[in-house]
Amino acid sequence: MTHPLPPKPLPEPILPGQPLTALAPMQDVTDLAFMRVMAHYGAPDYFFTEFFRVHAQSRPEKHILRSIDENKTGRPVFAQLIGEHVSDMVRTVKELLKHPVAGIDLNMGCPAPKIYKKNVGGGLLRDPAKIDELLGALRDSVPGLFTVKMRIGFDSTAHYEEILGLINKHSVDLLSVHGRTVKEGYRSEVHYDFIGTAARIVRCPVLANGNITSADKAVAVLAESGAAGVMMGRHAIRNPWIFRQCRERFALHTASRPHPPSSVFTPTLADVREYVARLYRETQQPGVPEQAHVAKMKKYLNFVGQSVDTDGAFLHAMRRAMTEAELIHVCDRHLMSEPNKHFSTEPHPGLIARPNCETPIESCSLDSVSA
Ligand SMILES: Cc1cc2nc3c(=O)[nH]c(=O)nc-3n(C[C@H](O)[C@H](O)[C@H](O)COP(=O)(O)O)c2cc1C
Repeated sequence: MTHPLPPKPLPEPILPGQPLTALAPMQDVTDLAFMRVMAHYGAPDYFFTEFFRVHAQSRPEKHILRSIDENKTGRPVFAQLIGEHVSDMVRTVKELLKHPVAGIDLNMGCPAPKIYKKNVGGGLLRDPAKIDELLGALRDSVPGLFTVKMRIGFDSTAHYEEILGLINKHSVDLLSVHGRTVKEGYRSEVHYDFIGTAARIVRCPVLANGNITSADKAVAVLAESGAAGVMMGRHAIRNPWIFRQCRERFALHTASRPHPPSSVFTPTLADVREYVARLYRETQQPGVPEQAHVAKMKKYLNFVGQSVDTDGAFLHAMRRAMTEAELIHVCDRHLMSEPNKHFSTEPHPGLIARPNCETPIESCSLDSVSA
């Protein structure tokens, strides 16, 4: 491609004129069932699939395809790819374009060593020449929206502005920036100033990502970075109302809106109890034994528990449940004894999803957040 094209128009957000919201792609989390649950509580503008892994023998994973083919949320889904071999990537793009995707998204951020050691995901950030080649080939093979999700570097930000130049060169249509290097994993401070650099340099809209814990934080990050929108991952697992809350909070900001809502929705512990029940029901799969499903639920609840009580009593009890009945008992005891109490908008300090995916050595998957 010789001349960069202007970015193509993105799908209309739920409330036109507001900053964009997106659910971050999360392996083992953002499947069809989870997207359906999110949509129930207030969908994000955009969904992204967990990544399709691309190599010589790969075929798009069927369970991820379901999140595209059977999506009835009314919101667009971008298909994310991870890989580096140009012909395999282009072949996969052609296969994915037969499905109702909103666009194709390239993963340039996964920090799992088993991924980056293969020079894919975050590993690509070490090699701008490879990025140039890959973005060029993908841009040429995607007639519609081509998007990228990246971190700000591998172990330093030395190549950052050069890579942002490549985003422009290859006419990327939307850029999501997780404001940490690969080596910073999931727990360091997020460098929102670097997201601001992207928002200034690239021609397409930028989604700010990383530790956007609440609608208030979203407003602050947007103000600091000048990004076009926000992408939330773990805090949407914790608080599925976060996208609705963002829209209500953004509306309070927009004086021109004729009937701004008077407040931002604050869920109670009873609302959270209902969320847990829905998540249990919707994510249950035929043939999966009860204990395995309870183990999966505990992975989501690791995040939910960060906002239930300040001393982590819910997390402590929940991690010990082995059966559905035990889990329900724990939820009823901790969420229904004071059902009208507010579920904290922000996570309580000191409570982390343990063991977690928040260290650089862990993989991007719920296996690494298992209890
Ligand atoms: C369990 C888990 C799985 C993830 N899987 C992916 C993935 O498949 N693709 C991707 O680009 N990022 C993935 N990420 C990174 C998130 O999209 C996001 O960038 C990161 O969690 C920071 O945002 P947050 O603070 O809002 O969670 C994953 C993160 C987690 C916690």
